[in-house]
Amino acid sequence: QNNVKVAVLGAAGGIGQPLALLLKNSPLVTELSLFDIVHTPGVAADLSHINTHSKVRAGNGPEQLKESLKGMEVVIIPAGVPRKPGMTRDDLFNTNASIVRDLAQACAEVCPKALIGIISNPVNSTVPIASEVFQKAGVYDPNRIFGVTTLDIVRANAFIGEAKGLNPTQVNVPVIGGHSGVTIIPLISQCKPAVDFPKDQLKALTERIQEAGTEVVKAKAGAGSATLSMAFAGARFAFSLCRAIMGESNVVECSYVRSNVTDAKYFSTPILLGPNGVQKNLGLGNLSPFEQELLKAAIPELKKNIQKGEDFVNKK
Ligand code: APR
Repeated sequence: QNNVKVAVLGAAGGIGQPLALLLKNSPLVTELSLFDIVHTPGVAADLSHINTHSKVRAGNGPEQLKESLKGMEVVIIPAGVPRKPGMTRDDLFNTNASIVRDLAQACAEVCPKALIGIISNPVNSTVPIASEVFQKAGVYDPNRIFGVTTLDIVRANAFIGEAKGLNPTQVNVPVIGGHSGVTIIPLISQCKPAVDFPKDQLKALTERIQEAGTEVVKAKAGAGSATLSMAFAGARFAFSLCRAIMGESNVVECSYVRSNVTDAKYFSTPILLGPNGVQKNLGLGNLSPFEQELLKAAIPELKKNIQKGEDFVNKK
């Protein structure tokens, strides 16, 4: 196999459009299926004029969802609403939770073997939601459902590269745990190349990585959250899934997956990817005492987020 069929659900959005552009620009993708509830035909027409080899198709509106998923091997999901002024966290959870539930339901019916990357927030809860939906449909394979946390790694690499004057494309920091606030655990002690920070700087850098999304929300001043860097990170993750499907070895990405590495049922660690998704969970590695404290703080919050997602599907 030398190229892969990829779908983007939520393709007309702030993340979806630049993500679709990056996918269209890649020789790894043979067919690019774009789905959204509005504006998809325009985005698809626009991208289809780019002279790269993938074929672009558009699905617009819920009645075209299943058609959009036919034959798809990778499905990336950035559908959902970002938070707006006046909205509570629960408003956001409830909206995105049902969007992810319904999209996962369609994937379970049409392309249950696809590798699925979920971007829609809160990822800590939406991955358990999709997993419960697949479970109920009798097609759950925990190796095929991924929470996309790649932006945390991309940010950590960028900030450390900047702080140490290193080429940021050559910096590689694993970031484990979940994908919000204190659940984000950068493992700077495992950074390649090795870097050393005084304690106060290490703490400040860790907090900056955990709160980097808020930095963007503030700078955009009401015009949304991270879209371009998220699209970059989402594309990197999608390409890694494609390369693994094509049989490349040694493809490793951190991702939020079903896990028994810690007490939390879902947890992000470096994952060796293969043609069927998770090939091997590479685990935590050695944590510094500082990182062990971060892990301790993350677990209860993660468990709460996971429970909330599961309860949503099971209507407790
Ligand atoms: N099916 C498909 N697409 C949907 C659905 C649905 N049921 N509901 C909404 N969408 C689409 C919207 O039409 C829109 O085009 O999802 C897109 C979301 O785009 P934006 O509102 O611009 O939001 P964006 O910044 O892309 O963020 C989307 O990703 O990082 C997360 O927290 C973020 O959960 C949010 C999501």
